[in-house]
Amino acid sequence: MPKPDSHLWDAIIIGAGAAGLFCGSRLAAKEHGVLVVDHSAKPAEKVRISGGGRCNFTNLETTASRFLSQNPHFAKSALARYTPWDFCSLMADHGLSWNEKTEGQLFCDQKSTAIIKLLLDELERHGGELRLSTPVGEVTHADDTFCVVLDGVPTRCRKLIIASGGLSIPKIGATSFAYEIARKFGHEIVPTRPALVPFTFSGQLKDDFASISGVAAPAEISFQRTSFTDALLFTHRGLSGPAILQISSYWQEGEAIEIDLLDAVGDRDLLVMAKAQNPQKTLGAILAASYPNRLTTAFASIFGFPVDKQIGQIADNALRDFAMKLAKWEVKPTGTEGWRTAEVTLGGVATDQLSSRNMESQLVPGLFFIGECVDVTGWLGGYNFQWAWASAAAAAVDWAS
Ligand code: FDA
Repeated sequence: MPKPDSHLWDAIIIGAGAAGLFCGSRLAAKEHGVLVVDHSAKPAEKVRISGGGRCNFTNLETTASRFLSQNPHFAKSALARYTPWDFCSLMADHGLSWNEKTEGQLFCDQKSTAIIKLLLDELERHGGELRLSTPVGEVTHADDTFCVVLDGVPTRCRKLIIASGGLSIPKIGATSFAYEIARKFGHEIVPTRPALVPFTFSGQLKDDFASISGVAAPAEISFQRTSFTDALLFTHRGLSGPAILQISSYWQEGEAIEIDLLDAVGDRDLLVMAKAQNPQKTLGAILAASYPNRLTTAFASIFGFPVDKQIGQIADNALRDFAMKLAKWEVKPTGTEGWRTAEVTLGGVATDQLSSRNMESQLVPGLFFIGECVDVTGWLGGYNFQWAWASAAAAAVDWAS
């Protein structure tokens, strides 16, 4: 093994993603010697691919209720102390601007690479060091010092901050590193699974959905007591779109979800009223006024609707029954697209052994976990980056400047 590096860093941060780079710059700004390390050749790849290349970097509606965690209160303190406006102010300092989409979602007007540049510039400006393409080996702890083997070289630090993210999209660098370190030092892991992820289906439903792949319609999607209203997208393998991604974080394997396709387009008596007004029109033509044509055609196969029959020929009871089918359509996903496409990881390092004030381990002083590796998972819409910024800022809070 090469000779140990004799330098003692104030902090080593593992993971040059959103949380790691931001935490590095906050600590470096307080004149701490900080080394940010990543095994990938490029930093913050998930920032780059986020929001269709425009990074949905925060959400103005941020509250702890927009996050899933075994301890729903854990995120409150960090989120309250570093708000969406704090990050907007940093963006403005760097000459970046943004626009608001639905429900407080803020997207960068410049490309997402402008946010990566901001993070890198902040780290460099304050004197933090970044090492990419650096494999991270064994981590040990003795005499208040951590030793991390970096590219084969034992390297020491006073504080170790784990910001290596979750398991989604292994192709761009995701690993289970954070969970392995957490376990090694005695932390519990809340079971992980892909979240904000499309559903897959099998059998006839899969064929039906594939036949209308690319079609979108507004819908309310529910699982147990949680509902989201947004676009539903049919795909070759099943269902996607914002409403589906949101409910996927709540869904439990083997259970059905409920789709309400009626709420967004009319009331329960829609078809009966249409019959009174246009009895000579076909059921398909009536439905086509509210739904995309291809979806209307698929209703024949999915629900057995007589779409070619004149609506005047169909009994009111049958029409009410059709409306109920549109309003309470229960489908049971076979599974999800998995880590390959999931936007985030549900579960992670259990919060009950971490300080909600500064993300420090309550078992090993000087060890911190921030960002997505912690059991705090946001809804779709900028919440996960806000957690990355807020948890990173929290981890830097108690260090003297
Ligand atoms: P992140 O995953 O960003 O960074 C972890 C870093 O650690 C990576 O650079 C990785 O290479 C490195 N690493 C991993 N294992 C390592 C090891 N063993 N050794 C060394 N380094 C290691 N969120 C949001 O709020 N708005 C959005 O628009 C989107 N859009 C979006 C699109 C897509 C396609 C995905 C996959 C995800 C999103 N997200 C999102 C989620 C968001 O990207 C995610 O929550 C944050 O990037 C998490 O930030 P972290 O810094 O915690 O992890």
